[in-house]
Amino acid sequence: MIYLDQAASSFPKPVEVIQAMTEVITEYAANPGRGGHALSMRASSVIDRTRQEMASFFGFDHSDRVCFTSNATVALNQAIKGFQFEKGDHVLTTSYEHNSVRRPLEYLKKTKGIEVDYFNTGKTEAFDLEAFRKKITPHTKLIAVSHGSNLTGKIVPIELIGELAREKGIPFLVDAAQTAGILPIHMNQMNIDLLAFPGHKGLLGPQGTGVLIVGQGIELTPIHHGGTGSSSEMIDQPDSLPERLESGTLNTPGIAGLLAGLTAVKAMGLDTIRAHEKRLTEILIQGLEKIQFVHVYGPTTDRLGVVPFTIEGIDSQEIAIILDQHYEIAVRAGLHCTPLGHETIGTSSHGTVRLSVGPYNTEEEIRKVIQAIEEIVDGYFG
Ligand SMILES: Cc1ncc(COP(=O)(O)O)c(C=O)c1O
Repeated sequence: MIYLDQAASSFPKPVEVIQAMTEVITEYAANPGRGGHALSMRASSVIDRTRQEMASFFGFDHSDRVCFTSNATVALNQAIKGFQFEKGDHVLTTSYEHNSVRRPLEYLKKTKGIEVDYFNTGKTEAFDLEAFRKKITPHTKLIAVSHGSNLTGKIVPIELIGELAREKGIPFLVDAAQTAGILPIHMNQMNIDLLAFPGHKGLLGPQGTGVLIVGQGIELTPIHHGGTGSSSEMIDQPDSLPERLESGTLNTPGIAGLLAGLTAVKAMGLDTIRAHEKRLTEILIQGLEKIQFVHVYGPTTDRLGVVPFTIEGIDSQEIAIILDQHYEIAVRAGLHCTPLGHETIGTSSHGTVRLSVGPYNTEEEIRKVIQAIEEIVDGYFG
């Protein structure tokens, strides 16, 4: 199987992830933070270490503000629904947002009367910071952007937006679902107040892991309430982080796996991962653009390893089924949880086939995929 659905979940995982998770399950899968016994302490210790490593990797000084969730969606829901909005508050976001940002915002639009502006980031052109700046109003209480599009691989300049947010005194939320573990992210230097990302994509951890890092000075209302293993006498959720936003038993095997994934990413190095994915993406785009009837979408140069395409007159689901069943190539087809993104690139009616690469994909695999798509086109039009 050639796996090119890395933007959904990375696969395969480093062997160290499997080892770390197996070790937890076989040796110390006790409840972390809920008991003073040795096994519970060992479970807590791997979780604390993961918090510290995450804080350091993302340029942030307070590991107690690193909160674990089950995926990026939950982290984003906590950040957005937990944000203390009032009626009439305005949120500036972009047209490439995933439904994990858009749906919580739309929910708050209905339930709290906030206003949301989806800035059109364009098909291929560079992000227009000055046009974005003009969308800020005196009521703007949050700027929320996806660092990289899961549809087109377009990268948004979060360092510039962070500067703008700082200048205007507006909290800045970054959805790093497609970039954590691929592009450098430094919360302090980039003025990021809330950083949400999954553990199971670029960080090479297992599914069931996600993280929300909450900047100093940001107060979120918890979206979940329950046992935190501390302050059990209190009727209300404790005030201190991370417990405030972490109700219920944490996913120790997953978090240990995530730590191993992060360690593998650090060992490979972001520069190496990025350069490898860039090279594969260039080969892929060049190959696809030579095939008649194939249309490739997204920026021509600096982009993530995410490549959407269509073949004239052929349903994208059908292409994905042929690639899967005939060629054993795993891709994703349809609308990629970003309806406005599809509107922006003009593929709302039929969706796209999305190929996404990761650190373990090879040039040979990419060439086989190009050949498979050539054969599919020949089969239909030849
Ligand atoms: C940009 C973006 N945001 C959020 C998410 C949601 O991530 P998760 O599946 O971990 O909830 C995804 C998943 O593909 C994504 O691409």
